[in-house]
Amino acid sequence: MCGIVGYAGTRPALDVLINGLKRLEYRGYDSSGVALFFEGKIEIQKSQGKVENIERLLQQLPAERKNAYRVGIGHTRWATHGKPTTQNAHPHRTGHVVLVHNGIIENYLEIKQELIAKGHRPASETDSELFGFLVLDAMDGGLGLVEAVRMSFLRLHGSCSVVVMSEKEPGMVVGVRNGTPLVAAADEQGGGVIASDAQPIIEYSRDVYFLEDGDMVIATEKGLTFSEIRLGQPVRRTPIHVDWSIERLDKQGFDHYMLKEIHEQSVTVVDTLNEMLDRAKADPFPLAARPGAELLSSASDMTLVACGTSWHAALLGKYWLERFARVPVSVDYASEYRYREPVLQPRSVVVGISQSGETADTLAVIKDMKRRGVGTIGLTNVRGSTIAREVQASFHTSAGPEIGVAATKTFTAQMLSMLLWAGHLGVKRKTLPPTMAVRLFDDVIRLPLLLNDLLARDGALVRATKEIAEKVRNSKGFFFMGRGYSFPIALEGALKLKEIAYVHAEGYAAGELKHGPIAMLDESMTVVVIAPKDTWRDKSVSNLEEVRARGARIIGVGSAGDTQMERLSDFWIPVNTAGLDEGLSPFLTAPVVQLLSYYLAVLKGTDVDKPRNLAKSVTVE
Ligand code: F6R
Repeated sequence: MCGIVGYAGTRPALDVLINGLKRLEYRGYDSSGVALFFEGKIEIQKSQGKVENIERLLQQLPAERKNAYRVGIGHTRWATHGKPTTQNAHPHRTGHVVLVHNGIIENYLEIKQELIAKGHRPASETDSELFGFLVLDAMDGGLGLVEAVRMSFLRLHGSCSVVVMSEKEPGMVVGVRNGTPLVAAADEQGGGVIASDAQPIIEYSRDVYFLEDGDMVIATEKGLTFSEIRLGQPVRRTPIHVDWSIERLDKQGFDHYMLKEIHEQSVTVVDTLNEMLDRAKADPFPLAARPGAELLSSASDMTLVACGTSWHAALLGKYWLERFARVPVSVDYASEYRYREPVLQPRSVVVGISQSGETADTLAVIKDMKRRGVGTIGLTNVRGSTIAREVQASFHTSAGPEIGVAATKTFTAQMLSMLLWAGHLGVKRKTLPPTMAVRLFDDVIRLPLLLNDLLARDGALVRATKEIAEKVRNSKGFFFMGRGYSFPIALEGALKLKEIAYVHAEGYAAGELKHGPIAMLDESMTVVVIAPKDTWRDKSVSNLEEVRARGARIIGVGSAGDTQMERLSDFWIPVNTAGLDEGLSPFLTAPVVQLLSYYLAVLKGTDVDKPRNLAKSVTVE
């Protein structure tokens, strides 16, 4: 889950590396480092903690020196093997070889024993450093850097990517991908840049090569060349044009990326509608013709697999697909599903939902299903991501880059995509009556406006969530509860609060509260009751009364004008669901729980965009 950047070209390499690492910090930020060529020698700077620590170290260098570097590699780490110390930080040097690595070398113990038996003494606790010894030995045995990297990489088991340099061959950066992502682009000014994803690259080119497993890329001042590692033969790769703009990678005046991304959700909805629909067609839910739409239509049943927030979106997908399209849908954690023996039908379809498109467990399910000949669909926010490429048919969510580690706008984009699938299938299968389809689609089209009003920069929701966060900040714990469409939002609210504010929180189906968790409730607890006016609202109100009777503080989230809910709540957050199909309330209640968690995290003083122990792209099991 670490982030890698490599550059060889005509620009000041230090700027390329530091800017790139900052864009990759979402992948891990336990420690970081850079290695740069200067007069034929490689200089390394590394430090525990975030990239800003390295920047501080480098400030001591004279400006001419900083501008002189033209070739280098950098890394930001999410520790797997070995503690997050400066010593374990990358780049690692082994003699004249210096490398950065992302992923896991599964046979590292065997390699370590072999290296120690040969007399080598690894200095760090990482599996990564061992690769440097393999390359060093191969080069000392007479191979050039490229061939040494290739032969050494073939010895590794497990998913990983490496980027390597050697003082014996200055001016060259060699990257290999197997299982964890690596992308590259030719710098329009001359040279090439390699990274773990496209964000550090789009400043230099929007035409990005997404390496395949087993690909090797070599960057020099002249540009990029590609080969495969089995035999070392050259391969041709075609770039994918990435349409993200650099402006979208900045905070645009918000205190945190997460806040900006929460506020962007009306744009997310518009962009996802434009991506998914063929607006030239007049019918409701006109899904654009593409292989995924056909595969969805042919499915006898669907299994949605995902992790974390994406799993919560999948739960909502199930509700909509079942209600509107009458397709049997099951939802599973990818980490569980991959080790089960699922019963599948000849026309079953397995859908992997993942904003990053790289989550190891979700990817493993997709690969396994492909092997078994099961139809696979991917829903990701990253074009060219591994899941997007592995699946039979891929859908893209168009939420734009999401930099805050906590998923917010990608959640909304995932929900919307699945709602559109459900509406489209409902129309096609005639399970959604025409008048209802038109009404529902009109409601979907209203969502951007409703979200725009809800998320006005200093609007009522912002003020309410800020004030309420202040009042409940000392609660011992939080429960989020909801029924029907509000249940996945309750789960999502609890997850958001835990991950960014480090406060204990649980999400529950409101009906489950009395089966155990109610024993926890007293004056020290806060319960967020999500109950917009819908089929389940009255039942949730009864559960709210039960909570009140135990003295817990209640934050009510419901439909504007629901005076009973307002009266029963200690704090009240209304959303405008008037006239909206009840199935669409999650689009309005999700931002409420996102903002509430955000302001609680700010009050707790946590690093909202980079919460501890987490990473945005979880490429390990
Ligand atoms: C929560 C969060 C995680 C991810 C999970 C799956 O805010 O971001 O729970 O949802 O790690 O990630 P993706 O969607 O990339 O597969």
